[in-house]
Amino acid sequence: MQLVIEGGRPLSGEVTISGAKNAALTILPAVVLTEGESVLANIPDIADVRVMLRLLEGIGVAVEREEDRIRLEVRGPLNPEVPYADGKQLRASSLLLGPLVARLGEARVPLPGGCKIGSRPIDLHLKALEALGARCTVEHGYVIAEAPYGLHGGPIYLDFPSVGATENAIMAAVLARGTTVIHNAAREPEIVDLATALNRFGAKVVGAGTDVIRVRGVDGLSGGEHTIIPDRIETGTYLLAGLMGGGPITVRHVIPTHVEPLLAKLEEAGVRFIVEGDQIRAWLEGRPKAVQVKTLPYPGFPTDLQPQMTSFLLLAEGTSIVSERIFEDRFGHVDELKRLGGRIKTEGRTAVIEGVERLTGAPVTATDLRQGASLVIAGLAAEGETVIDGLEHLDRGYERLEEKLAGLGARVYRVEEVEERVWV
Ligand code: EPZ
Repeated sequence: MQLVIEGGRPLSGEVTISGAKNAALTILPAVVLTEGESVLANIPDIADVRVMLRLLEGIGVAVEREEDRIRLEVRGPLNPEVPYADGKQLRASSLLLGPLVARLGEARVPLPGGCKIGSRPIDLHLKALEALGARCTVEHGYVIAEAPYGLHGGPIYLDFPSVGATENAIMAAVLARGTTVIHNAAREPEIVDLATALNRFGAKVVGAGTDVIRVRGVDGLSGGEHTIIPDRIETGTYLLAGLMGGGPITVRHVIPTHVEPLLAKLEEAGVRFIVEGDQIRAWLEGRPKAVQVKTLPYPGFPTDLQPQMTSFLLLAEGTSIVSERIFEDRFGHVDELKRLGGRIKTEGRTAVIEGVERLTGAPVTATDLRQGASLVIAGLAAEGETVIDGLEHLDRGYERLEEKLAGLGARVYRVEEVEERVWV
């Protein structure tokens, strides 16, 4: 699948942001801990969510989508094994480990593959589950977690504030006997949203959003209703896309505090903005100033906006420095951005960007979700046509991408796969 962009046309206008992919991918598995019916609202219709819904159905959860609301019903016994094919396809399937072993005493989940930004191990997830009494092994490509006598509360020390490990730890602790304290926990807004949803379902989680989270185990959870938070990464992606031509761009249905790390950096680059309720309006006179960016766990600058910010800095006045501190190999966008005229040199986890006055369109290839987003942002600003191959990577995390871009004045269209012509 390809996205064709006729670039060089500044975007402006308003765009409505969808629900957060990374909140949906942890709150959907959390439903496994409940008994009865739950309704989750503001769930984006994106590929990763569709796969997660298939996984839930595979283990016995009844799922029904009504627009952006998902109705889920958990009744009776669930299957502890996640189907290999689908599970392997979605890294976030590892977030079923905690809920399944907490509820059933066992879980079998395909070992998540690495991806284009690094090896993506889950050792911290397994260490957290073992601290609560689970026995974790890897056999035939499956991660197996067993706790025949149930889980018990206890202290968990995370070597790194891993988002996924924190989420698995919280979900496992919710039904453990006794109290769990998670130290060096991740502080991302998606963790707070998970805790809010779990507490709505009857859990007792306090401290989410700080680096110490306490969970008092309960006997069981009922279902409930929850509306997930807006997607702060989609928010940042559209702000940066709109600012490539100076804007003004308004993003709606957002939580401004969740994108403060980005706004602070954009202000340094000369961007002006007005924050009003759930809207942010941003604009820029002339070219952005060069800045230094370092990705860190929340509330630092988010690694998921590093590729998109790198594209924004291609047109800056001066030389910018971007250092990627979270993933070991998240510069897959650099070579493709050079095809569009970007001047970037990478040295290990650091990229040095020498700002240029203009970019020119070219055929480029998306290899992962946020790398693909950085190509869209640069392609929109590049004069002439840019064709992005690998659009399926963007469909994993951006709902109605071309519709939202067209609403901002972009000239974009999707080209389905061109059948391979086989000459016989
Ligand atoms: C979540 O991934 C997000 N995914 C990622 O977003 C995001 O980039 C990441 O958090 C960091 O913010 C979802 O929420 C589904 P981590 P996660 O565990 O949980 C190392 C996107 O584009 N690590 O915080 O996998 C790991 O290798 C995606 O939406 C271990 O060493 O991130 C990485 O270097 C991409 N052992 C670092 O920690 C572990 O057991 C951060 O990983 C776990 C992680």
